[in-house]
Formats: sequence, C-alpha cells, structure tokens
Amino acid sequence: MSRRSDTYDPKQVALLDQASLDEAVAAAQKAFAAVSDVDGLIALRHQHLGDRAPVSLARREIGALPPQARADAGKRVNEARAAIQQAYDARLAVLEEDRARRVLVEEAVDVTLPGDRRPRGARHPITTLMERIADLFVGMGYEVAEGPEVELEWANFDALNIPPDHPSRGLMDTFWVATAQTFANGLVATAPENQLGTGSGLVLRTHTSPVQARTMLERQPPIYVVVPGRVYRTDELDATHSPVFHQVEGLVVDKGITMAHLRGTLDHFARAMFGENARTRWRPHYFPFTEPSAEFDVWFEAHRDGPRWVEWGGCGMVDPNVLRACGVDPTVYSAFAFGMGIDRTLMFRNGLSDMREFIEGDVRFTRAFGMEVA
Ligand code: DAH
Repeated sequence: MSRRSDTYDPKQVALLDQASLDEAVAAAQKAFAAVSDVDGLIALRHQHLGDRAPVSLARREIGALPPQARADAGKRVNEARAAIQQAYDARLAVLEEDRARRVLVEEAVDVTLPGDRRPRGARHPITTLMERIADLFVGMGYEVAEGPEVELEWANFDALNIPPDHPSRGLMDTFWVATAQTFANGLVATAPENQLGTGSGLVLRTHTSPVQARTMLERQPPIYVVVPGRVYRTDELDATHSPVFHQVEGLVVDKGITMAHLRGTLDHFARAMFGENARTRWRPHYFPFTEPSAEFDVWFEAHRDGPRWVEWGGCGMVDPNVLRACGVDPTVYSAFAFGMGIDRTLMFRNGLSDMREFIEGDVRFTRAFGMEVA
C-alpha cells in the first residue's frame, strides 16, 4: 500500500485504473448472478463489498494520488462501489422474493389430509378387571396377596392335599420347569418330550390356590385375602381354552366360618360382576383341598348357544389337612376358599365368546373397552 508521503507511482495505484474497477464490478455482478439463494449471496458480500474487497482497497489508494487526480479517482471508485452495491441489492431482492414464494409452496399445510396422531394404547381388560375385583374385596376388608408364577411343586400340589398320584399332578395339565439341576441329573436328556422338567420340584402354577398355603404360612388368622393372578396349563389354545389364563383366589380363615359365609360372599361377588339380577347356584363337587366342595355357576344369558348355567369356579371349606399342612389349627379355625376364572368373568360380563381375542394383542380389541373406571 502507498503512503501519503510517497511520490505518485501509477503502478502502485493500479487498483484505481478504470479497467480494474470495471473488472471488480463485473466480477461482483457475475458472482451475485451465480448464487441461487439468500444465504449464498450474503456469504459473497464480504468478498465484494467488505474491507478487503477490490473497491475498498482502491478507495484507500486515493490518498496517494496527486491532489488534482483525487476527485476523479474518488468519483470512479464510488461509482464502482455503488454499482456493486446496487447489483447486490437487486439480487438480494430477487432471491428473497424467490425464497418467500418457495416457502409458501413447500411449507403449505393441507388441512384436509388425515392426521398422523398415534392412538394411545389401552390397558388390557383382564388387567382392569383384576384391579376391579381386588378393589371390590379390599372394600370388604380383604388384603390382596401375591405368589410366584414359577411355583414349588409342594405349594401347588402337596400342601393342597393333592397326592402324588392325583391326575392333576400328571403330565396332562402341568408345565414343569426344568432347572440347571434337572439338566445336571440327566433328567432332561432322557425324558420324553412331554416330561421335560419333571422331578425339578418346580412348576408353572396351575392355579392360584398355592397362594393359600403361602398366606397361611406367613400370616396368623384371622386371614381375609384375595389373590388375582396368572396361571398356566398345557391346554391347546381354542375359543374356550388358553395355556395362560387368570384366576382370583379367595381365602378366609377365622373362627366360626361356615359355608353360608362362602355363599354370601360369592353371591355378592357375582352381583358386583354381573349386575344386581345375577343368578347363581352351586353343585357338589370334589376338590382335594376342600371338604365339602362345590362348583359355582352363574346364569349366562348371552351364551352363544343360548342362555344357560356356566361354571364360574370352584369353592369349598378348606380341608383340615390343608390347614394343618400350613400351620393352622383346624380345631380352632375354619376356612373357606374359592377360585374363580377371570377370563370367564370377562366373557360373561361382556358377552365375549372367543378367548383368543384376549391374547392376540390386537389393540382394536383392548381399545373397545376404553378406560374402565370403577
Ligand atoms: N384351584 C381350583 C382350580 O383351579 C379352583 C378352586 C376350587 C379353588 C376350590 C379353591 C377352591 O380355592 O376352594 O380348578
């Protein structure tokens, strides 16, 4: 760069000659024309109009000119700079308008398109029903008890007075659980396929009744508990059977408990589930863990084959052998127990005939129940 005290040398102020200025203007116009968006144009501004741009550098050279040349040079530099500024402004206006037009097109919202809102899932009606049943009994002063789904063979069978040769202990109904120990003993390798796991001492509980035994071992009478839960049997899946289903167990151990208390409790339960006009009956039956025992039926008006009695579950007075096995003195206490099918309860309540719908996981099924609020 030249300094004011330097003598004038045309080579040092080459930036000021008209050809250079024209070139700077042309270069800027060309560059501005070539960019196609506002951001690109703004990025070019510094190069053509900033401090180090040719026209800016040229302006600084003016001071080095002899006084008589300065006015002319200043005028030409200003014109060049104004031409570049004008090219810039014009291009900016065009690109901004372009952008505005594009935004209108690209960001247009078609309010008539279907929404993409994801429907919320719904709680499974079995879950809701189990909670409703628990609430009903809690309202009568019961506690809710739980037990493991992988259960001791002892609790599932022995404690409930089910002897080893009882058919329900056989391989027809029970899922046996193979443990590392059964593998180590070679039982798994040698057993026929349907006997895998037998001998492990562990089963998938076939009913909620083992929680009776666990409860009596853990608590002192009086005992009022209800146990909703999942149970397993080796049934093929069809409209009325599923290898996984749900029961609610009830157990009352107190002084002076009779079958009348049992009947009254189940009638109340039935009315709460099926309405004030629910009709119930019981029939004598056999269960190893109760004596006397009964099956408890409800009148199912909406049955697909016409109105009829259907079994809702089993019940009875807890067998003294069971009380003794669980540390309760049968000369002091008596007890009633029941085990009702929850899946059945849902079928009766809602006139459903196919259990497979319960486990297919189709949200259209669960959503139809909405959020049941007790
Ligand atoms: N556990 C029985 C079953 O799954 C049902 C049952 C019957 C439960 C009688 C009871 C009872 O508590 O007293 O078939």
